[in-house]
Amino acid sequence: MKLAVSILKSKYDEEKTIKKLNETNADFLHLDVMDGRFVIETTPERQYLQDSIKPLQVHLMVSNPFNYISKYELVNTESIIIQVELDEDIDGLLDFIKSRNLKCGLAIKPESKVNRILPYIEKLDYVLVLTVEPGKGGQKMMKDVLYKIDLLNEYKKEKDLNFEIIVDGGVNDETIESVQNVDIVVSGSYICESDNYQEKIDKLLQK
Ligand code: DX5
Ligand code: ZN
Repeated sequence: MKLAVSILKSKYDEEKTIKKLNETNADFLHLDVMDGRFVIETTPERQYLQDSIKPLQVHLMVSNPFNYISKYELVNTESIIIQVELDEDIDGLLDFIKSRNLKCGLAIKPESKVNRILPYIEKLDYVLVLTVEPGKGGQKMMKDVLYKIDLLNEYKKEKDLNFEIIVDGGVNDETIESVQNVDIVVSGSYICESDNYQEKIDKLLQK
């Protein structure tokens, strides 16, 4: 299992958070981007992303991702994940992300059904299952959403597909046990609100 660390809610400022994350063995920096439209919250302008030695996994919670894709296509960006609920040309957006040589993914909100992503599944490198309402770090994991992970694993096997499953929201040392069947876990406040990031990461990964 790989680990992506969301820097949305941190005890430290952006520069220090990224520096501390660089010193850990986390696999990715998970960057949450919000536009005040798809969700009420807005994320601050980031200034130190280029300092990250961890590849960036960009999670766009925005209603019009097109401009944001170019904005967050940085040298260290590995993937861009957009929300499936958008009233936009999802196929076109995924193709655009892929044309930039980035991995692409679709995220699904807790209330959205898995079958919404099926029309695009063959194109996807990632499916991100949101286990909290998008918008804020530090929320409680909604365990009644976890059945989607089983469905996706079954579907993947049945159709012999290669996408990876990401779970995002409320992952901590207690909830990690219920998400062992994913490829990547995102954890934010559990790690970034502490002083010792590696200690928290070890706790997650040893479970
Ligand atoms: C929710 C975000 C998550 C969240 C993760 O809107 O997509 O990435 O910040 O943070 P924690 O681990 O604190 O739930
Ligand atoms: Zn996220």
